[in-house]
Parts: sequence; structure tokens; C-alpha cells
Amino acid sequence: MNFENKFKLLHQIFAYIKFLFRSSNQHGVHSPFVYDLLTKCLYLKNDTPAFQKIRVYWNAVHRDKKSIKVTDFGAGSKVFKSNNRKISAIAKNAGIPLKRAILLNKLGSYFQFKSGLELGTSVGISSAAIAMDNPISLTSLEGCSETANVAQMYFDEFNLKNISVQIGEFDVLLDSILEKENTNKDSRFDLVYFDGNHQKEPTLKYFKKLLPFAQNNSVFIFDDIHWSAEMEEAWEEIKADPSVRVTIDSFYWGLVFFRKEQEKEHFTIRL
Ligand SMILES: C[S@@+](CC[C@H](N)C(=O)[O-])C[C@H]1O[C@@H](n2cnc3c(N)ncnc32)[C@H](O)[C@@H]1O
Repeated sequence: MNFENKFKLLHQIFAYIKFLFRSSNQHGVHSPFVYDLLTKCLYLKNDTPAFQKIRVYWNAVHRDKKSIKVTDFGAGSKVFKSNNRKISAIAKNAGIPLKRAILLNKLGSYFQFKSGLELGTSVGISSAAIAMDNPISLTSLEGCSETANVAQMYFDEFNLKNISVQIGEFDVLLDSILEKENTNKDSRFDLVYFDGNHQKEPTLKYFKKLLPFAQNNSVFIFDDIHWSAEMEEAWEEIKADPSVRVTIDSFYWGLVFFRKEQEKEHFTIRL
């Protein structure tokens, strides 16, 4: 492990200790909106056919020993030495853990998102989790074409017709998507999941580009907000934005809500 990665690991350990001291569960929450979100959605101990299919998807990519040639994009991909990688290794290093995949699916069915955008498809674990048995139409962006092709193959296998993968650099794809959306005044994203290029400036740039496409009930989810000191700075700027009302820091995620009827309030919650 090089010096930069050792430093990041140390940062994450300290950030996690701080999080443990500051965080609560539903008992520390007075907002009815957040209390309901925890008790009627995220903390529910149910099982559903969608969760079962997500488990099958998750296991399938984690056991897939085929190799593909990967083009590196964004921070975090430096852990690999060569460009030839096993799909199982990509799933393990870049993919969302099963527990969080289930949480994404719960959010989708609780809020009944209709339109969603994901930055960072990888092999499609989080896309599948968002889309599985939910009414959403999800556009997912990925820079590496071979990785995106693997995701598409699995989406076909799992009959996930509500996901559309677009291949290219985020900036370029976002500009063309947003230009098209702009011509349609009613178009908004109910969900945006930011899970690629975990660096301060790009994160803030994507956030600002997508802000005009949020509506009152939209949810923005930022992955890895404590991954580095600069990602924490980005998270603080996002929280301070005047359009942001409620945020939840769950350590791995930062959830952002725009509900104008709410007081501005920030929660730190164990999920
Ligand atoms: C952490 S992975 C996404 C994991 C996925 N959301 C999941 O949980 O299964 C991030 C992905 O974003 C892609 N990516 C990062 N920066 C990018 C950029 N600037 N343009 C296009 N793709 C990018 C990477 O190729 C990588 O596959």
C-alpha cells in the first residue's frame, strides 16, 4: 500500500470513530419524515422477492471468473495493477456490498421513484438493486465500455428492462442528457445516485449540474462521503447549499432531500 492509500485508510478509521460517537438510530430523531423513513423503510427486517433476486445477482457477479480489459476512470481504481481484471474482482472492489444494495432497493420501493440517474454502473450491482421490481426508469452512466457490457449482459439475464446504460465520460454524457432534459420542462430526476469519481471537484460539479433537475421530493445519494478529507469537504459544501433541506450521513452514504416544507437539519444515523 502506498503512502497516499495508507493516509486515506487512517483518515477513514478516524472518520468512522467520530461517526460512531455522533450517530444515532430512530430514537435520536424528532423529524417525522426521517423517523418514518427509518422505521417504515430502512430498518424494516422484511424479505421480498426483489431482495432474493438481488442476492442472486450479487452472488453471480462475485463468482464470475471471466476476465475483461478495463479502462480506468476516477479515483479509487488505483488498487489494481493490470488492466485485465476478473469480473469477480471488479465486483468485490468497486461494487456495493449486499446490505447497501438491499437498502437501495428499499428506498426505491418506499419513495416509488419513477426516473433515476446513476453515475458509475460498474458491473451493475447498484443499478440492479435500484431497478429490481421497482417502477423506476434508470439511466446509468459508465466510462469503461467492457465493464458496461458486462452489466448489460447481466441486466438482460435478469430481465431488467428498466435500466439503460450509457457509455462515455460522465461530463460528456451528462451534458447531452441534461440538454435533452432541458427541452422537456417537466423532466426531473426522482433519484440521483453518485457513485463514480470520488473526488471533491468532480463531485461538486456533478451536483451543481444536476441540481436544476431535482424536484421537491428528489433524493440525491452520494457514495463514500468519508472516503477522503476532500470528499468530506465536498459533503460539507453540499449540506450547506441553500436548496438542501435534510441530509442523512450514514457514514458510507450522504442522503440529500430538498423538501421545502422541512427545516434545514442534518442527521448522522447508523443504517
Ligand atoms: C465505484 S464504481 C460503481 C459501482 C456501482 N455503482 C455498484 O455499486 O455496483 C465507479 C464506476 O464509475 C466509473 N467512472 C468513474 N469516473 C468516471 C468518469 N469520469 N466517467 C465515466 N465513468 C466513470 C468507473 O469506471 C467505475 O466503473
